[in-house]
Amino acid sequence: MKKIVISEKDFKAADRAVKKAVELIKRGYQKKKVIHAVKKHLVDLKIPFTPEDAYVAARLRIRAKEKFGELSGKLFFDESGYRYSTPAVVAKYRAERLRGYSIADVSCGSGMQLAFFGINAEKVTGVELDKKRAYLAALNVKALGAEAEVYHGNAYEYRPDEEVIFSDPARPEREEVRTVKSLQPNPLKLAEVFSDRMLVFELPPQMPPERVDSQFQRVKLKGNKGLKGEKEYVSFGFKLNRLAFYSEELSNCDVSAVSLPSGERVTSEDEAVKPGRAELTELIAEVDRTVVHAGLLENLLGKLEIEACVLFGDKRRTVLGLRDVKSSAFLRYYRVACTASSLTECKKLLKKANAKKVTLRFSVDPGKYWDLRNELEEGLSGEKHVYLFRFDGFANRYIICERADCN
Ligand SMILES: C[S@@+](CC[C@H](N)C(=O)[O-])C[C@H]1O[C@@H](n2cnc3c(N)ncnc32)[C@H](O)[C@@H]1O
Repeated sequence: MKKIVISEKDFKAADRAVKKAVELIKRGYQKKKVIHAVKKHLVDLKIPFTPEDAYVAARLRIRAKEKFGELSGKLFFDESGYRYSTPAVVAKYRAERLRGYSIADVSCGSGMQLAFFGINAEKVTGVELDKKRAYLAALNVKALGAEAEVYHGNAYEYRPDEEVIFSDPARPEREEVRTVKSLQPNPLKLAEVFSDRMLVFELPPQMPPERVDSQFQRVKLKGNKGLKGEKEYVSFGFKLNRLAFYSEELSNCDVSAVSLPSGERVTSEDEAVKPGRAELTELIAEVDRTVVHAGLLENLLGKLEIEACVLFGDKRRTVLGLRDVKSSAFLRYYRVACTASSLTECKKLLKKANAKKVTLRFSVDPGKYWDLRNELEEGLSGEKHVYLFRFDGFANRYIICERADCN
């Protein structure tokens, strides 16, 4: 384990080089010229940060606005570090949930989650296998004014003082079925090595709760017990974004879903209420897939105390019919304008409905989406943006709606 030390002088020089590179890229300079121009800022640097690294970091600062907002102008990334970095909203939430504990992030990457831990917690340490990325993590800790030590080394060899071991492991780019054992470092092995600590693992969010449980059952703890804990699914911008596993001492329930940035939460402890018989209502609502994937739809209905039925449900989309409105970040409301039995009838009704744009909210072969949309929008001269659902099982299966702001 090698501790990463970055002097104030080297930090400033690296930052100056990236800022200069951003400026030149924005002015349209070619890569070669940018690299040449920033060389002078990096002479005598004691850290492995080359002019090429500054160029890549600059391109990623420009791109990082969406993920990191105003912070992006301070950060240091390589391609892979950026791609797998935790978005600021999620990192902040996770750090808040673990507030009060000392934490070792044993696969810290370029250190985004680590830096957010380091803003909140007393003692925070990062470990990273890739040397360059370990330096990037240390640069990011400094850039965000956080407190954390960073080591270049292997997670399994770390001997922690910290109470919580956190790991957001690297995962294969593609995998037919997402599993825990293909993650690096392997959470099953980490759970055995750090069996005397509280544990938090980020896992591929595609994994349903049962699959997480069945994999962690294999961990060999004292008394041959498997590892149990909370599976927390995080939605960001109405999309499933993350899944974290918290070992028992840190768990509040078996399964939970949280919507960011609002922080609204539903858990397996909320009373479950079954949906009623399917009946088309004037108001319908799409459910954030995160809740359905976590198996918490009935808990959400119970928590919100709403009478609802499921009008449509498949892998990608679940739509409810509702009698009452309850504000929730997990629901996106629509008001039904009219219904049609065929697309030809839809076209006539879209004109009557004063439509201009028609977003299709049912499964269409991606290669044919725009053909169908253009066909439906052809000749429309209205003002409204409408949404077209299709609920097979209803005689009038096409449902033309407008967004309703009920939140
Ligand atoms: C998904 S990234 C972490 C991203 C980080 N949470 C963030 O917010 O920026 C996973 C990192 O784990 C590192 N890694 C893989 N195996 C490791 C091991 N055995 N020990 C330490 N780090 C490891 C990889 O090099 C990679 O940078």
